[in-house]
Amino acid sequence: MHKITIAGCGRVGESTAQILAKEELCREILLLDIHDGVPEGVALDIQQSASLLRFDTRVTGATDPAAMAGSDMVIVTAGFPRKPGMSRSDVLDSNLSIIDGIIDNTLRYAPDAMLMMVTNPVDVLTWRAWQRSGWPRQRVFGQSGALDTARMTSFIATQTGYSVKDISALVLGGHGDAMVPLARFTDIAGIPIEHFLSEADIRQIAERTRQGGGEILALKKHSSAYDSPAAAIASMVDAISHNRRRILPCVGILDGEYGQQAIAMGVPAVLDENGLVEIIELNLNPEEQADFQRSADLVRADIEHLA
Ligand code: 2OP
Repeated sequence: MHKITIAGCGRVGESTAQILAKEELCREILLLDIHDGVPEGVALDIQQSASLLRFDTRVTGATDPAAMAGSDMVIVTAGFPRKPGMSRSDVLDSNLSIIDGIIDNTLRYAPDAMLMMVTNPVDVLTWRAWQRSGWPRQRVFGQSGALDTARMTSFIATQTGYSVKDISALVLGGHGDAMVPLARFTDIAGIPIEHFLSEADIRQIAERTRQGGGEILALKKHSSAYDSPAAAIASMVDAISHNRRRILPCVGILDGEYGQQAIAMGVPAVLDENGLVEIIELNLNPEEQADFQRSADLVRADIEHLA
């Protein structure tokens, strides 16, 4: 990819820019924000680390959305994070108009881009972006499952003492407390997770995964997570920019998959240079399907709230 715009210069946006720049996942990164001076200042700071971190990515900042022109991807991180005690859905109303504005600017200035949604509630706002843009679903998707799965992986690694490199976990569903960690699709070096952990341990890890973002927010109080969300975004960008055809859980627009219509939520998907090109449908057992449905019902309630 040549140019990526990161819309929203908060902590997630800034950390994402740092990783994308350092990994040279594109030639040019534009940080866009409405607060005069902030995106320019953050961009300058990152740019000045280039010789130390050995990257040639060019990082700039702007408040004028016209600067998005020529972007291959727009990553949307702008908006209000939740505060302790709030659910991700509680920030829907405040983030909706911000997101609508960014989508409209993307349509105007970067009509050929892909849109990666990150702002919460991400499933609902991915749905909104898809509807408002009118773009094919392969160009409009969201980040959540890469982060939720990374959290589950890290808890398994801590609990078992084995390398994260050998752990493959999977979390589907909406990015909320009803997300669906799938132990049956989780292994360490190909060996099912049940071989290493008791049922009670697995249940506890699944619950901690569901609360993963909330745990960090409760500890930090004034900020949500941003390092791991940024790394999760970067893993998706890497898959796309290197045309890897990686299978990652992403927020995708569902059209009958998993028995769901008119909804966006986390499912395993293939990412390549054209975006989210395929949704992989797993054969869920009745209990997993019921969990997925419960999660879908919550996302759908928020989508209906949009109308
Ligand atoms: C998280 O889970 C902020 O939703 C984000 O940390």
